[in-house]
Amino acid sequence: MATKNTVILAAGKGTRMKSKLYKVLHRVCGRTMVDHVLTQVEQVKMDNIVTVVGHGADAVEKELGSRTKYAVQEEQLGTGHAVMQAEDILGNLDGITMVVSGDTPLFTAQTFDNLFEYHKSKKAAVTILTSHTDEPTGYGRIVRNSLGIVERIVEQKDASKEEQAITEINTGVYAFDNQALFSALHSINNENAQGEYYLTDVIEILKKQGKTIAAFQMDDFYESMGVNDRVALSKATKIMQRRINEAHMKDGVTIVDPDNTYIDVDIKIGADTVIEPGVQLKNHSVIGENCYLGAHSEIRNSTLHDNVTVTSSLIEDSEMFDGSDIGPNSHLRPESSIGKGVHLGNFVEVKKSTIEDNTKVGHLTYVGNAKLGKNINVGCGVVFVNYDGAKKHETVVGDDSFIGSNSNLIAPLNVADHSFIAAGSTINKDVERYDMAIARERQTNKPGYFKKLPYQKD
Ligand code: UD1
Ligand code: CA
Repeated sequence: MATKNTVILAAGKGTRMKSKLYKVLHRVCGRTMVDHVLTQVEQVKMDNIVTVVGHGADAVEKELGSRTKYAVQEEQLGTGHAVMQAEDILGNLDGITMVVSGDTPLFTAQTFDNLFEYHKSKKAAVTILTSHTDEPTGYGRIVRNSLGIVERIVEQKDASKEEQAITEINTGVYAFDNQALFSALHSINNENAQGEYYLTDVIEILKKQGKTIAAFQMDDFYESMGVNDRVALSKATKIMQRRINEAHMKDGVTIVDPDNTYIDVDIKIGADTVIEPGVQLKNHSVIGENCYLGAHSEIRNSTLHDNVTVTSSLIEDSEMFDGSDIGPNSHLRPESSIGKGVHLGNFVEVKKSTIEDNTKVGHLTYVGNAKLGKNINVGCGVVFVNYDGAKKHETVVGDDSFIGSNSNLIAPLNVADHSFIAAGSTINKDVERYDMAIARERQTNKPGYFKKLPYQKD
């Protein structure tokens, strides 16, 4: 049976990244580079996907889980040696094997599909995916003869002056006849500038065996970009970001300044939402329809339902329901749930709390470990005092209550519905329904005292 297989090369350390993190685990728009590659490969429907791991094998396996098989390359002796490690899994199969690198995050499933189709139509032993660039430095070059037929690939470090001038590059993606690939790999050596077993040498070997070598030229060089250092990482991120932002705009989202809007790959956004400059949407956030995300807001791993307004605020691991609003300069910390029509104004911090529909927390307030019912008014500068130095405690406030400004609610505390807390109170005893609680020093007025003050004015 003719099988369709892919080998993803992800064993290299990535020395040029100068990082403790393995190269293929660096992120582009929220997803690791190797995950980007695997996600696109998965869409082509393979019989086998084998990821070659070495440096950081455990971390890469943890990242990709059971979506791929693994082959371990103990020592990183080159890309040809890396593919060899997949021989135990793939060696006996008939069919086509695509090889891709884990450091080329921009490739699309469509390009892989096109490569397979082209390869089949050419009946070739190998089809190299190539592209053209005015800045080929660092890439392997495609050497063609006077008839334009591909002879071999020469690596940057082994290339002559003339070869370095070639602008057609090896993208590092190939479709091989599986049997031809593994038999040719047995003949490669490491006699080159880097002392490595190059996968690219397989081309010349197949050529010498009289087999057909094809090259499929893709139009978009940027899609084939390999990330070897941080400069390339930032370029790849820019390109990916543009793609993501354009897809959202085509789906009806207004992005005022797409060059300065940072949206991770897994984010969903409803139509008619408006996103101002500097906004960052991260992890697995979901944004509803007709929301307004004001400048420099950041939303991490959170869900916003429809018609939510966020003005220059930070939202983490939380949920905001229909018509609620927050900001400017406010912060939802993890595990907060904000009901429909809730208003959270400026300088409000909410942590691990539930606030039900139409409650208002207008200004300068900390709500921690609390459950607030519906239609509550929380005045300015209220502190939900949740921590006794050792443990966190909970405060519950019932529907339709009023919490006066500058109050401290010392948890554990239960404030019943329809109750009233007078401004400036420090409350540490439960409050019953329809009660007013007042806990502050009575005011004393001293008649005429102003005139006794040393700085008094007539
Ligand atoms: C490689 C190609 C080059 C091509 C470029 C495209 C070779 C010899 N060169 O160069 O022609 O233009 O990709 O981006 O193939 N890896 C292993 N084990 C190893 C060595 C590398 O798994 O022993 C993995 C790396 O993790 C990486 C991929 O193979 O994901 C490519 O290796 P890298 O060192 O980045 O090759 P380039 O120098 O970019
Ligand atoms: Ca590379």
